[in-house]
Amino acid sequence: MKIVLFSALLMPFYWLCLSGETSSITQSQSLSYGKTLVSPSGIFELGFFNLGNPNKIYLGIWYKNIPLQNMVWVANSSIPIKDSSPILKLDSSGNLVLTHNNTIVWSTSSPERVWNPVAELLDSGNLVIRDENGAKEDAYLWQSFDYPSNTMLPGMKIGWDLKRNLSTCLVAWKSDDDPTQGDLSLGITLHPYPEVYMMNGTKKYHRLGPWNGLRFSGMPLMKPNNPIYHYEFVSNQEEVYYRWSLKQTGSISKVVLNQATLERRLYVWSGKSWILYSTMPQDNCDHYGFCGANTYCTTSVLPMCQCLNGFKPKSPEEWNSMDWSEGCVQKHPLSCRDKLSDGFVPVDGLKVPDTKDTFVDETIDLKQCRTKCLNNCSCMAYTNSNISGAGSGCVMWFGDLFDIKLYPVPENGQSLYIRLPASELESIRHKRNSKIIIVTSVAATLVVTLAIYFVCRRKFADKSKTKENIESHIDDMDVPLFDLLTIITATNNFSLNNKIGQGGFGPVYKGELVDRRQIAVKRLSTSSGQGINEFTTEVKLIAKLQHRNLVKLLGCCFQEQEKLLIYEYMVNGSLDTFIFDQVKGKLLDWPRRFHVIFGIARGLLYLHQDSRLRIIHRDLKASNVLLDENLNPKISDFGTARAFGGDQTEGNTKRVVGTYGYMAPEYAVAGLFSIKSDVFSFGILLLEIVCGIKNKALCDGNQTNSLVGYAWTLWKEKNALQLIDSSIKDSCVIPEVLRCIHVSLLCLQQYPGDRPTMTSVIQMLGSEMELVEPKELGFFQSRTLDEGKLSFNLDLMTSNDELTITSLNGR
Ligand SMILES: *[C@@H]1O[C@H](CO)[C@@H](O)[C@H](O)[C@H]1NC(C)=O
Ligand SMILES: *[C@@H]1O[C@H](CO)[C@@H](O)[C@H](O)[C@H]1NC(C)=O
Ligand SMILES: *[C@@H]1O[C@H](CO)[C@@H](O)[C@H](O)[C@H]1NC(C)=O
Ligand SMILES: *[C@@H]1O[C@H](CO)[C@@H](O)[C@H](O)[C@H]1NC(C)=O
Ligand SMILES: *[C@@H]1O[C@H](CO)[C@@H](O)[C@H](O)[C@H]1NC(C)=O
Ligand SMILES: *[C@@H]1O[C@H](CO)[C@@H](O)[C@H](O)[C@H]1NC(C)=O
Repeated sequence: MKIVLFSALLMPFYWLCLSGETSSITQSQSLSYGKTLVSPSGIFELGFFNLGNPNKIYLGIWYKNIPLQNMVWVANSSIPIKDSSPILKLDSSGNLVLTHNNTIVWSTSSPERVWNPVAELLDSGNLVIRDENGAKEDAYLWQSFDYPSNTMLPGMKIGWDLKRNLSTCLVAWKSDDDPTQGDLSLGITLHPYPEVYMMNGTKKYHRLGPWNGLRFSGMPLMKPNNPIYHYEFVSNQEEVYYRWSLKQTGSISKVVLNQATLERRLYVWSGKSWILYSTMPQDNCDHYGFCGANTYCTTSVLPMCQCLNGFKPKSPEEWNSMDWSEGCVQKHPLSCRDKLSDGFVPVDGLKVPDTKDTFVDETIDLKQCRTKCLNNCSCMAYTNSNISGAGSGCVMWFGDLFDIKLYPVPENGQSLYIRLPASELESIRHKRNSKIIIVTSVAATLVVTLAIYFVCRRKFADKSKTKENIESHIDDMDVPLFDLLTIITATNNFSLNNKIGQGGFGPVYKGELVDRRQIAVKRLSTSSGQGINEFTTEVKLIAKLQHRNLVKLLGCCFQEQEKLLIYEYMVNGSLDTFIFDQVKGKLLDWPRRFHVIFGIARGLLYLHQDSRLRIIHRDLKASNVLLDENLNPKISDFGTARAFGGDQTEGNTKRVVGTYGYMAPEYAVAGLFSIKSDVFSFGILLLEIVCGIKNKALCDGNQTNSLVGYAWTLWKEKNALQLIDSSIKDSCVIPEVLRCIHVSLLCLQQYPGDRPTMTSVIQMLGSEMELVEPKELGFFQSRTLDEGKLSFNLDLMTSNDELTITSLNGR
């Protein structure tokens, strides 16, 4: 700083051109095309740039050392400059002014006049104007963080400065190479209970929800105790905002609004590429108003839209044809005048309704909230305004309730107390009581009863399924039905030449429809004992599973004993043909492999946690991961185990579904599966991708012959680098590879309770957080695992693990 001022005194020019690397300009300096400001630690750079078109030049800020997708801010994207003569200077009133051909293109507007203004680019990526003589360091006259582009950086506030009546929101770019403002924006709306919305133009598109003291009600990913991100929400007389920061210094992360996908995306920089860490919205229920008024949307049952308890479809005909826009109305009117006869029913695991008609009182508790709500005829629901700790404060909703989501995992949501007339309460109480009896009996008993419970549960499930099936016929399935003849034509009558694989449930054929679309047809073996109705129910559910990392089910066909599933065809075939092949292995360099690993992890997480079904894959392996034309991974064969029941019979012998070599010990030996046995298979797959070696099941019980044993030995000798596949030696980033090996060993630990969930796997892979040392690994050795240890394992499983017993005598 001093040097710059000093040289300014010596030079005779009024506007001085910058020389050398500096982070700031003062009144006497200007920035011209080709010159930049660099933040003190060299993280961000400010200057002029174009995105491929030299006639469209913008002023902006980017990550200095990241070569791709590095723009974080654009001064005024609506007016690009046509040639390379723009000049940025700080005028005498302390405003930055961008001129081109002597006309002002853009300028800041700070109201205050100061003697000694300085514009400086900070290491946070914030361009600020401050008074060099000013007392307070962070009292900025202007800052770029107040006028964000499509990127939210750590430390940036999104929300309202009420004193200045200034709203700060993100706006997507029109496209990757056009920074002009797109339709998608994200900001806080100042309802009594302020809420973050994503807007498509002027229409609500997705609600992140109001801040409930722990997180935004619609953002279950925001876990307050996570090791990576810190979230902050502030609402007072002067400002309402939220911001996030990284707990670990040195890591690089950003949130970007993407117009093409209409998503809010969280990225982490891996050292070589941006890793997509999470996206919102995640499913249809996240789309604003997917179901109409007084409904909840859920991904765990069909149909996705359900009337709230005590409500019925407004127009049943449309409702039944899956047009849910009319929503639901009360079955019986509220009595209201006779206060005693209304009441409330609590519903857990929700994203709370749209807050446009709300009232908040932070000073009263839940009981007073109830009374207050009961006393106002238009109050329809209430809950705590802050659910942190024991919960406090009161928020009430008036009129119809909109955009409620029910989470498959209840702890992701919160409770809402919904107003109902006495008659409805009575019938609900009835139903609830019978449920409680079942639950307490389970809680009070031991493993034996646990088993009985699972048997019972399956019976109950079967019963309700049969009931559903009476109501649903094949012809109202929302999965497209293919005609058998079409498929026979497409696959050359299931010719051997068209056969591309053999899965656990039958062969797979490649086909081509008349419109030239390529398909993959899975021909399920006809010996399955399952009835057509149960089967169609399952297929309907599986068809609803949609994620960029899952192979898409296009339709099905059941005719003349044939049960066919039709999938999109994946040009590049399966992952095993790449990683276990010396030549093709080179096509998948390390950045691509890392991308593949993340994709598989996200797909699996979706199956485990985010999808409506909570699917355990049970047969994750390299040949079940397919690659599309851009080498994006897509998990295939998910849900088939579910559609066919765990004890799928083939020749009517009970057998464990899965592939030896990928199977967790507790599953291989005792048929116990959980999401943690999938995590084990993921660990094997991860190791195979890094090493390029197939893990073989052991017949001789000699651990060191298996990949896992080999990896474990090298890891303990601190020689893990020797594991790296020679095909990726040149392209790999050592810390990333080591991290992957470390995470894979954590997934391979013997006790399911020790293994991480897929959520933590993704967190661990995408950050630089410190990892624990793996404990003893679970090798597949049927003789060393005795039953005593297995029942011990049962205790270690968390309630999240969704334990299922496939076949207790499967050994
Ligand atoms: C950007 O330029 C347009 C067109 O001149 C103008 O209307 C708009 O206010 C400018 N935006 C900012 C932030 O300066
Ligand atoms: C610069 O401005 C002058 C007058 O305003 C105009 O005649 C000239 O064409 C402009 N030059 C460019 C390169 O835009
Ligand atoms: C805040 O600004 C908006 C327009 O940007 C205006 O309509 C509104 O009245 C202003 N509010 C206050 C309190 O000044
Ligand atoms: C976004 O808005 C545009 C026009 O306002 C509309 O055509 C489009 O369908 C909307 N997209 C979504 C996903 O709502
Ligand atoms: C919510 O309650 C917790 C615990 O009582 C308190 O620490 C926190 O400040 C409250 N948050 C808000 C936003 O009021
Ligand atoms: C009920 O609440 C609404 C919204 O706050 C308010 O407008 C109305 O006056 C209240 N009615 C009574 C009877 O308190």
